[in-house]
Amino acid sequence: MFRTIWILAIALLLGAGLSAAQDEQPSLRELAESRDFYIGAAVWTNHLDVPEHAETLAREFNMLTPEHEAKHCMVERQRGQYDFEATDRLVEFAEEHDMVVHGHTLVWHQCMPQWLVSGDFTRDEAIEIMRDFIFAMVERYKGRIAIWDVVNEAVADSGRGLRRTPWLELIGEDYIELAFRFAHEADPDALLFYNDYGAEAMTGKANGVYELLSDLLERGVPVHGVGLQGHFTLGSVNAGSIAQNIQRLGELGLQVQITEMDVRFNGEPNDNILHQQATDYERMMEVCLESEYCTAFVVWGVSDRFTWLRGSNLGFFENPDVAPLLFDDDYNPKPAYFALLDLLAEETQG
Ligand code: XIL
Repeated sequence: MFRTIWILAIALLLGAGLSAAQDEQPSLRELAESRDFYIGAAVWTNHLDVPEHAETLAREFNMLTPEHEAKHCMVERQRGQYDFEATDRLVEFAEEHDMVVHGHTLVWHQCMPQWLVSGDFTRDEAIEIMRDFIFAMVERYKGRIAIWDVVNEAVADSGRGLRRTPWLELIGEDYIELAFRFAHEADPDALLFYNDYGAEAMTGKANGVYELLSDLLERGVPVHGVGLQGHFTLGSVNAGSIAQNIQRLGELGLQVQITEMDVRFNGEPNDNILHQQATDYERMMEVCLESEYCTAFVVWGVSDRFTWLRGSNLGFFENPDVAPLLFDDDYNPKPAYFALLDLLAEETQG
C-alpha cells in the first residue's frame, strides 16, 4: 500500500518536472509579443471543439482569422438576415485569449450568397447590398475586429486589370473604392486591407496589385494594408523578390501582412519534404521580420488535420496526404514550427 503511494508520488513529481521543463520553452506568441509582432492562424468554430486545437491556438498564436464563417455567403444566407453566431464565437475566443482578430473577408467573388449571384439587381441595388453587409459586420465588431480584409482577390491573374467577378459586373470598377469607403465609415479606427494570392514575389500579378493600391491611395481611398496570402508550393518561396515587393508596398505607406501561409506538396510527407517545408516557412518569416513594414505572419490553419488543402473539390490541387501547416494531425509541432521558433528567438535577442 505504502509502496504504491510512493510510486504514485514519485510519478507525480516526475510528471510535474517534465511539464515544467516543457513550459520553459517559450511559445511562438510569446516570442512574437516580445518584439511587438503578430503570429496568427485561421480557424473554423468546429475546430474549437477539439481541446488540443483550442489549446494550441491559444498557446501559440496572438492573432486569429475566421477561416470561412465570417464571409458573405455564411453570414447573410437570406437577404437582410444576418447570422453572426460563428463569428461571435471566434471573436469571443480571441478576446478570452488576448488575441487580435483579422477579419476575413467582406467583398470576394467566391462565397457570395446564392440569392445575390442569381438575383437580377441594378447597380444601385448592388451597392446597397454591399454597403449593408459591410456595415452589418464592421459596425457590429467595431473595436473588436481591429483589421478587415475589405476586398479579396480582385486583381486578374494576369495582373492586367481587374478579375471579372459578379461585383465588377454589377457595380463597375469602383466597387473596390466604395467597399473601402463604406468600411471606413462603419469603423474609422479599423485597419483596412486588400488581400490577394500570387502577389508575394515581383510577379505580373504583384504589379497589378501594386498599381491598384497606388491608384486607390492617390485618390485618397482609405486603404491601410495589403495581405499577401502566401499559399506556396514546396520550394517556391523566392525571398529576395518577396522582400523587394514588400519594400515597394511599404513605401506606398501600407503595412503588409502574410495572411494565409501554408506550404503544399505532392505525395506523402517524408523527412526531405518536411525539411524543405521548414526552410520555406523560415524564409518567408525571415523576410517579414526583416521588413519594417511587415506586421504579422498568419498561417492558414493550426493542424494539418483541418487544412483546406485536403478538400476534395479544390480544382487546382488534390492530395489527401498533404500536410502544409506547423502542427501535424495529432498536434505535434513539425520542423517548420521549430524553424519559426528558432528564428523568432534569434530575432528577439538581436
Ligand atoms: C477557404 C477556406 O480555407 C476553406 O475552408 C473554405 O471552404 C473556402 O475558403 N483564399 C482565401 C480564403 O482568401 O478565404 C480561402 O479560404 C482560401 C484561399
